[in-house]
Amino acid sequence: MFRKFALKNKRTIRLSKSSLSFREQKAIEKVIKNEFLGMGNYVKQFEDSLTNFFKRDAVCVVNGTAALHLALQACGLKKGDEVLVQSITYLASFQAISALGAIPIACDVNLNSLTLDVKDARQKITSRTKAIMPVHYGGSVGEYDEIYELAKKFNLRVIEDAAHAFGTINKNQFVGSIGDIVCFSFDGIKNITSGEGGCIVSSDKKILERIKDLRLLGVINDSEARYSGKRSWEFDVKEQGWRYHMSDLMAAIGIIQLSKIKKFSQKRQKLAKRYDEILSKNPYISLFKKDYDKVVPHIYPILLNKDIKRQELQEFLIHKGIQTGIHYKPNHHLTYYKSKNKLPNTEAIHERILTLPLHYDLSLRDIKYISNSINNFFDLFKKDK
Ligand SMILES: Cc1ncc(COP(=O)(O)O)c(C=O)c1O
Repeated sequence: MFRKFALKNKRTIRLSKSSLSFREQKAIEKVIKNEFLGMGNYVKQFEDSLTNFFKRDAVCVVNGTAALHLALQACGLKKGDEVLVQSITYLASFQAISALGAIPIACDVNLNSLTLDVKDARQKITSRTKAIMPVHYGGSVGEYDEIYELAKKFNLRVIEDAAHAFGTINKNQFVGSIGDIVCFSFDGIKNITSGEGGCIVSSDKKILERIKDLRLLGVINDSEARYSGKRSWEFDVKEQGWRYHMSDLMAAIGIIQLSKIKKFSQKRQKLAKRYDEILSKNPYISLFKKDYDKVVPHIYPILLNKDIKRQELQEFLIHKGIQTGIHYKPNHHLTYYKSKNKLPNTEAIHERILTLPLHYDLSLRDIKYISNSINNFFDLFKKDK
């Protein structure tokens, strides 16, 4: 339908991507020359750098899903326990909960930020509720104080899914520097990457010690041996563990990426502010207004008016060489997680959210081109009506 708008030889503007330089390349080469790719000194170094960044201990794992899974297990979550989590999140938040036989209880989101609706979560608490998993959607921490008040009142652990929020400032500190247990993802498209990867940050030393064992098949105190290139040949295991450790190859990338966090964050913030400036004048869409002096946006979603056909806009943009995404299909609509929970905000908006490209390698000109292309679509749409 929109073929006539297709641009010849136009590069595709990717929705998201990693941004890597010769520095990461050099770091990987060094690890390869070592001929030790497993969990060793580089992982220790990356953990030390993260600990320095957050001003409290961080433990690295193979990905963000594993970080959430281990955090929940270390808190003692078991079969049948319930965890409150927003339905609009990446499937990983739900799978990390159900991996333990626990039940993700799908909650609604706030319309202004797409973060957890705490009032709704409060109504879903039962005697089986053991934890709450706020997802820092798009980098925003949402109703942070209210979440912790609720957790205190009902004696719940808080496992923050901060996969989107690396670098965001909350209460004058980086997300992760405060809070019960905070989990990050370093997958290829996140604010910083280690290829795949993730980490858990907490002040609860017991939890972190347990996670250190759990990531190495539950082998007690194996982490310390691995850091110095050794293994515990004589060992004991007291519970089910997993092969969830990070490798030196990944950590080498992560160390370099972490050193770039300031410029990565500033660029993402600048691009999001530019989107806001141009798109706020468009009457066919609404924006999720955020304080981009504090929030480091991982994604840039917009909300389309009710009568707009999302797929048509997506197809139009693809012909203009622009990828878009949908973050996310509600998890309670999936067969495995079907529930009768009433989530009015989620139902009202999930078919209307659309994510625009956002990554370090975009320019302000790209943002102008994307925004103007969207405005262009609506000019045509307006004429058609
Ligand atoms: C909200 C959210 N939670 C959890 C994860 C899982 O992280 P990973 O892909 O590193 O397993 C992601 C990753 O995309 C995410 O976006």
